[in-house]
Amino acid sequence: MTRYKKQDPEITRRKFINVAMGTGAGVGVLSLVSALGSAKPAFRLTAEKAPPLEGDVLVHADASKYGQPIKPSELSDIAIVAYPMGKTKDGTPVIRAGEPNNQIGVYKFDPAQLKAPTKIEDTDNGIVAYSNTCTHAGCFPKSVQGSAIVNCPCHSGQYEPKEGCRVLGGPPPKPMPQLGVKVQGDQLVLTSSFLTSPYGYKSDEEWEAYLKQAEELLA
Ligand code: FES
Repeated sequence: MTRYKKQDPEITRRKFINVAMGTGAGVGVLSLVSALGSAKPAFRLTAEKAPPLEGDVLVHADASKYGQPIKPSELSDIAIVAYPMGKTKDGTPVIRAGEPNNQIGVYKFDPAQLKAPTKIEDTDNGIVAYSNTCTHAGCFPKSVQGSAIVNCPCHSGQYEPKEGCRVLGGPPPKPMPQLGVKVQGDQLVLTSSFLTSPYGYKSDEEWEAYLKQAEELLA
């Protein structure tokens, strides 16, 4: 008897992307988009599906405040979940929520609490931002009230956001990557995308190549 095991559609999708990106050193975003586009047009790279980019403003992902810029005064050691908001080529603001793995956790700690491997130069007075997609299987971790440790609900992964989001326990293979962030006026602006490879990429090199080509495609 054939046994059918239902797969998480996001994981399946990621596998597809990995296969598409791993077919050779010459594979670029255009060919990736083409490959994905032929399978499912919704995967086409658009401003909404682009990765977080330098200059993007962090806005609330939560439905109660969706799309509102996050103010520095709202931050604490409990993550606020954000999406990056950029612009289309014609200058129209766009929230990059078309890619679920663009969720970002934003925190504010006492600057003295931030320790290596946090990249301090990419923080602003204790404000630090990380991917909010678990590096194990792509679930969305949560901060727990009363604990600054971030917990993944799927397989009990734990991360320490004061120390580069390093893995404290469970199956995640690597930290959730940091992004550069700074305060600009009353908003939070990215100074970089993910500094190392986020969930779904096999290596930092693969991620950097994808990011570079996405930036060129959307410039
Ligand atoms: S998806 Fe987070 S621990 Fe498995």
